[in-house]
Amino acid sequence: MADWNTEGTENNTRKNAEKTMKDINVALIGYKFMGKAHSYAYSTVGKIFSDCPTPRMKVICGRDRAGAEAMASRFGWESVETSWERVLERKDVDAVDISTPGHLHKTIAVAAAKAGKHVLCEKPLGNTGDEAKEMLEAAIRAKIVHGVVFNYRRVPAIMLAKRMIEDGRLGKIYHFRARYLQDWIVDPQFPRVWRLDKSQAGSGTLGDLGAHIVDLCRYLVGEVNEVTALLETFIKERPLPAADQGAWGSTTGGGMAPVTVDDCALFLGKLDGGAVGSFEVTRFALGRKNHNTLEINGSKGSLVFDLERLNELQYYSQDDAPDARGFRTIFATEGGQHAYVDNWWPPGHMIGWEHTQTHTIYEFLKAVAKGEPPEPNFHDGYRNNMILDAVEKSAASGKWERTG
Ligand SMILES: NC(=O)c1ccc[n+]([C@@H]2O[C@H](COP(=O)([O-])OP(=O)(O)OC[C@H]3O[C@@H](n4cnc5c(N)ncnc54)[C@H](O)[C@@H]3O)[C@@H](O)[C@H]2O)c1
Repeated sequence: MADWNTEGTENNTRKNAEKTMKDINVALIGYKFMGKAHSYAYSTVGKIFSDCPTPRMKVICGRDRAGAEAMASRFGWESVETSWERVLERKDVDAVDISTPGHLHKTIAVAAAKAGKHVLCEKPLGNTGDEAKEMLEAAIRAKIVHGVVFNYRRVPAIMLAKRMIEDGRLGKIYHFRARYLQDWIVDPQFPRVWRLDKSQAGSGTLGDLGAHIVDLCRYLVGEVNEVTALLETFIKERPLPAADQGAWGSTTGGGMAPVTVDDCALFLGKLDGGAVGSFEVTRFALGRKNHNTLEINGSKGSLVFDLERLNELQYYSQDDAPDARGFRTIFATEGGQHAYVDNWWPPGHMIGWEHTQTHTIYEFLKAVAKGEPPEPNFHDGYRNNMILDAVEKSAASGKWERTG
């Protein structure tokens, strides 16, 4: 077992590391849901991970100055801007974190790359494959470090699953089966926020939730090469929101507006190595709040993961004695055995959703210090967008579609 009671040693390591590592000046664009999650991560990551370059929280940006100022004083951002263009002009910014709605990702990322800033961008990378391609090309051209926030790769239990699959503990993989279910727009009176508008969000559940499970499939099992899909929009029109209240705001203003994205998406995929994938995402599964679950079945065993119990991985092994077979629960909180957890708490002291963001930002900052893209990066974001595009194409054509 790892020795977790090492505060003195850790402090010394941190002090030494501080002397040698360059600080990274960060700008965050967007201050609401992800703005808060990322602010929390930047404000804690350097204190938790002793080998992390220190992020200097230079500037937070949002359209509403009062809102951005409130966030700045809460989390310790040094200054506030209301124009992202102004952020990119600043000489004191090394890296830009894009936590805005999807329609701004490409414009900001391409401009940031041209300005020589490293970029961490929220998912989905672009609103289309073409947008993501432009972002990737701009990043390569400018030789910046680029990362994309598929934060569920950074759950210790998911990283354990990856290791077990790579070690052959599941044998040949046959099935990847994932569902990401929520229920926050079942009420037809819930307003038509930006997430329900294709011109801003690109797609609905597909880009929001589907992007995550597609990324987990690519990470754990392999590429999605061909898809067949069904998309549905149950509520075609909703009241306009009262004001800019973010993705989750529930106050309505006046008038109605069409919903131009999918409320649910179901698709099948042909994966690398002959495996098959099934994917389901919806915001209409009453009682399901953030039900991101997956099951992987191979010739020697199976794994099950449920984000709402993110410290656990269920494992079934065909190698167990026949009279002792059954799913067992692995608790991925043991320091020395599981990714990142040495830095947090003693064994059995759980970590939560916010830590997936902290780990993502930790990997990004280390990558900036090294000058190499972390995983996942814009290559992954681009492939992911290509798969989402093929899903939309298949839903329209009624045929199997290749993903690129
Ligand atoms: N990785 C995850 O788990 C996860 C979860 C939720 C959202 N997201 C992604 O994060 C991004 C943001 O989503 P959210 O839920 O935080 O949305 P949100 O509505 O809560 O916040 C959006 C922010 O963008 C800002 N913004 C909008 N237009 C702007 C402009 N022109 N200039 C500057 N700022 C502007 C808004 O002021 C707001 O602060 C999306 O890409 C979304 O898909 C990722």
